[in-house]
Amino acid sequence: MTAEHTETSGARPQIRPATGAQYARIHGVGGYRPTRVIPNSEVLNWIESSDEWIRTRSGITERRWAGPEETVAEMSVQAASKALAMAGISADQIGGVIVATVSHLKQTPAIATEIADRLGCGTAPAFDISAACAGFGYGLSLADGMIRGGSAEYVIVIGVERLSDLTDIHDRSTAFIFGDGAGAAVVGPSDSPGIGKVIWGSDGSQKDVISQTQAWDTAMAKPDAVNGVGEAVKWPALRMEGQTVFRWAVWDMAKAAQQALDAAGITADQLGAFIPHQANMRIIDAMIKALKLPDSVPVARDIAETGNTSAASIPLAMERMLQSGEAKSGDLALIIGFGAGLVYAAAVVTLP
Ligand SMILES: CC(C)(COP(=O)(O)OP(=O)(O)OC[C@H]1O[C@@H](n2cnc3c(N)ncnc32)[C@H](O)[C@@H]1OP(=O)(O)O)[C@@H](O)C(=O)NCCC(=O)NCCS
Repeated sequence: MTAEHTETSGARPQIRPATGAQYARIHGVGGYRPTRVIPNSEVLNWIESSDEWIRTRSGITERRWAGPEETVAEMSVQAASKALAMAGISADQIGGVIVATVSHLKQTPAIATEIADRLGCGTAPAFDISAACAGFGYGLSLADGMIRGGSAEYVIVIGVERLSDLTDIHDRSTAFIFGDGAGAAVVGPSDSPGIGKVIWGSDGSQKDVISQTQAWDTAMAKPDAVNGVGEAVKWPALRMEGQTVFRWAVWDMAKAAQQALDAAGITADQLGAFIPHQANMRIIDAMIKALKLPDSVPVARDIAETGNTSAASIPLAMERMLQSGEAKSGDLALIIGFGAGLVYAAAVVTLP
């Protein structure tokens, strides 16, 4: 470096750093469950199976599927309004709206901007993220960083899905699993740590293990510049290699959950709740074993009545545990989401 260069750099103006809250926590949580209940008996109209097989292999007895009015935006607004009410925060205090979803079928614009507008969040930055069943954890990690980094005071994280739109009802390996719904959390400043280090990651080498059958540009014949839009060939749906996902979830995800506990300096017996992604009751039970979770720790088992709602599953299960009194405000909860990508996110959080 030349002497001349050193002199000029000394005179460079300094950027004033953004300063945020020292800690962040969840202030409120809310959920929306569609009104239409689909019991296992209804699924049996579409696939060859039995109520007993579905219950014993997945733990699911029923799921909710959204009607035409229960759009991604509508369900999100309902869930977020409940979360705001619980937090005691008004929409105009929100400095960021993050919507995690894989089933908003209109790519542009992000659905988050409409949701922010309908909630009354003014000009808050609003964007969608695609991290499947880890979407809520990914959003929470972003919100935590935004609040502590000083770019927002309060952030709403919404996990929302209409997976029924992407379900092939004749596919035996997925028709009984997926459900619809929305869950939201208001995240904001805190006097004490309320969100532990988020252990998150991805493994794109397993991208085909859970995925949409085909991209929209192959599902539709490519638009022709002269003759206009092409013809629909086949509506895409979700497919997965159930056993591969099962093994990965039980083996690798228990390790990620343990890492989240260790990073937070919390032991399993100090937890007030375990809220894993609601993918399969047997995965939940296997994780409990792997983590050596004491019987005294209540475990979310919302899957029985909700099915797998991907990004919505953790906030929905959290809301249910708080409402039923199974878990209490101020308790520590271990959350872990995992799914298509493959992606995952785990953290210890203080319940609102
Ligand atoms: C999907 C899942 C429930 C299937 O359970 P499984 O025990 O792995 O089932 P398999 O695919 O090994 O099939 C076992 C048997 O059940 C049969 N079977 C599969 N689907 C069936 C159904 N819906 N009803 C009845 N029988 C079925 C298979 O044909 C097979 O029969 P066979 O032994 O005579 O060949 C399970 O793999 C799972 O939950 N995986 C993880 C899914 C998940 O978490 N996904 C989301 C992640 S975000």
